[in-house]
Amino acid sequence: MKYLRTILSAAVLAATVAFSASVCAAETTPAKGFAVGKGTFLLDGEPFVVKAAELHYPRIPKPYWEHRIRMCKALGMNTICLYVFWNFHEQKPGEYDFSGQRDLREFIELCAANGMKVILRPGPYVCAEWEMGGLPWWLLKDEDIRLRELDPRFTAHVDSFMEKVAEQTAGLLDADGGPIIMVQVENEYGSYGKDKPYVSEVRDIVRRHFGDDVALFQCDWSSNFLDNGLDDLLWTMNFGTGADIDSQFAELRKVRPDSPLMCSEFWSGWFDKWGARHETRPADEMIAGIGEMLSKGISFSLYMTHGGTNWGHWAGANSPGYAPDVTSYDYDAPINENGAVTPKYHLLRDLMARYSDGQPLPEIPAAIPVVEVASFELDSVAPLWRNLPEARHDSTVRPMEMYDQGFGSIIYSTTLPQGGDDVTLVVEPHDYALVYLDGRKAGILDRRNGDSELSLGSVKAGSQLDILVEAMGRINFGRAIKDNKGISRDALLVSRGDTIRPSQWDVTLLPDDLDFYTSQHFEPVKSFERDADGRLPAGVYTATFEIDSVGDTFLDMSSWGKGLIYVNGHDIGRFWEIGPQQTLYMPGCWLREGSNEIVVYDILGPKDARIAGLRESLLDELKTDGEHAGATNLPDLSDIAPLMEATFAPGGGWQTVKAPAALKGRRVALQILSAIDGGDDTAVAELNLLDADGNAIPREDWRVVAVNSEDRNGGNHTGEKAFDRQESTFWRNAPGTPLPHTLVIDMGKEYEIGALQYLPRMESGAPQSVGSFRLYLLD
Ligand code: GLA
Ligand code: CA
Repeated sequence: MKYLRTILSAAVLAATVAFSASVCAAETTPAKGFAVGKGTFLLDGEPFVVKAAELHYPRIPKPYWEHRIRMCKALGMNTICLYVFWNFHEQKPGEYDFSGQRDLREFIELCAANGMKVILRPGPYVCAEWEMGGLPWWLLKDEDIRLRELDPRFTAHVDSFMEKVAEQTAGLLDADGGPIIMVQVENEYGSYGKDKPYVSEVRDIVRRHFGDDVALFQCDWSSNFLDNGLDDLLWTMNFGTGADIDSQFAELRKVRPDSPLMCSEFWSGWFDKWGARHETRPADEMIAGIGEMLSKGISFSLYMTHGGTNWGHWAGANSPGYAPDVTSYDYDAPINENGAVTPKYHLLRDLMARYSDGQPLPEIPAAIPVVEVASFELDSVAPLWRNLPEARHDSTVRPMEMYDQGFGSIIYSTTLPQGGDDVTLVVEPHDYALVYLDGRKAGILDRRNGDSELSLGSVKAGSQLDILVEAMGRINFGRAIKDNKGISRDALLVSRGDTIRPSQWDVTLLPDDLDFYTSQHFEPVKSFERDADGRLPAGVYTATFEIDSVGDTFLDMSSWGKGLIYVNGHDIGRFWEIGPQQTLYMPGCWLREGSNEIVVYDILGPKDARIAGLRESLLDELKTDGEHAGATNLPDLSDIAPLMEATFAPGGGWQTVKAPAALKGRRVALQILSAIDGGDDTAVAELNLLDADGNAIPREDWRVVAVNSEDRNGGNHTGEKAFDRQESTFWRNAPGTPLPHTLVIDMGKEYEIGALQYLPRMESGAPQSVGSFRLYLLD
């Protein structure tokens, strides 16, 4: 590296000899700046432990950026680790925006001004529970595009984006005396596939634009980092609170004994999805993990140190299945969603103070005031069905992207060419569809539940069918990121074996766009009656509300249905009555003394068109009893011969058990008969099924159809955590439920199964490991 010029002592020289010449590039002797040394990072020639706080500037209101950075500094952190969300900066192809809330350069300069180093993670894919993992939706306008692969239609866009990011960070690299010490190449590619040529291409693009003088790294899991590990990049591991740290680094230590160790994402908590309990992780386990890393000189980034908010329509969705993320990205992090301290913060600060070279930590910045806002009424409404823009005609239904719309809702309408009895609508809406027949609500199709059929009863020729589809976040994890919105395939009706496929559709676009919402025709709310469900009309509601003293507040949306809100032009985010999130964080910096304007778009309609600002957030108020059918759906397994019956060996890591013979089926039932420790509690971090040739069968469409016991408290260890492809999450029975514990999974279609792979929990000693089990295959 250019900046490693001055001669240092032989000892430091030895410490900087690269474990791989091009990773460290530090054959000359360092004096200034950051370097990847032997067994340690170096700063100005001295061993340096990266203590990074992960923060995402798009998730923090710009006026609060510095407050949050200083909160991290007061925790004892020395680095800010951040993603760049590509789709936030390039909303239309070739049109880049790095201004205002999107001013990456200003954020990095603020980090530097506060004495923080920076780790830059520009993707192009980032995951991060962000819409489409950071990829722009408009890539999907090319139906055949291959995302995160060596497809020139993809990589050419990546190249342009990376060039723009590098322009923004010009002069801010460590080599130039700036704060950026490392740049990440791609993101956890191992959970997507094995494709070194593609990862190498991204590395080359990053190198080309950021130059040869910056350390590049790639992050993955201890179980898969070798799949895509490039020889000339530094390798870091990602794992969460509770993980057994020595075993997480064991493989890396073996293959690269001289590599500095870094956990590039140590998960402080976890994200929430609509319709499931709020996630938390125990503070003592987080502290123990960081304490262990500090005591061993292991570098880390605490993901998230402050999560912030998925403003507007930027929350992503998880897969397998479809699990849309909520608006809050609180993450149970040490600094909560509104930038306030938590018990975790204080515990962590006490720990970090012991590793600050005897220097006192900076004082904790003053808290941002929180205010209450008296309940106010939204007294004007533009009912959705009275304000439809002009439709376009099409001979078939296409996804929203093909009509050049990225976000919002879309209505597909048709006049039925023929009638019939027992008619079923067959359609896969992305993501939430309200179906109307002759103007009357016929039902709801919710992608979270895998809904794709709706019984309409008898219909007449000439009846009007309207399908309103609301898009939620695009999937940000796994192969399912190619996630079109609206109706992604066909829409047809089936009547007693006959198929009716309408060939004339009216398509109405309802983009998520403030100008579109406010340009409608508003009427007084009081002129409308409530419907049979007690709801006021679906549509856009507005009001002006008064505030005498400005501060952060939490808008209580619990009397509203499903939609999005804007305040003073800021896109605040999605709400949904099912919870668990019932309030939306409203930063005081976006409010003003006196009059404020609010716009609410609600596709279901409110039960009460009022909102109040609360002093506390409501993030854990679920109004459904969760997504699974529970124990009631358990199949009777007593008369069925299992595909396999075996006992797992004690200890951590993946284990594979082969069936005596492969069998075909669509549903699998895992029946756990005993625990290794002889107790009643068992846990499954991940499951894989292999076909007769040993290939893993896809898990994208898997769904839990029944589970006799799952722990929904605190950490949220529900059934689908056994195949959410996250090794740090696990399914566990509710404490005290006697064995057997049974999980029934629908794989989406029939597969031939020849083997089962099982991963126990990652914590030291692999607690609650499964002993004996049976696996059944059902129709
Ligand atoms: C992975 C990803 C992150 C984030 C976390 C879960 O580690 O790299 O972007 O999605 O999982 O919060
Ligand atoms: Ca899991």
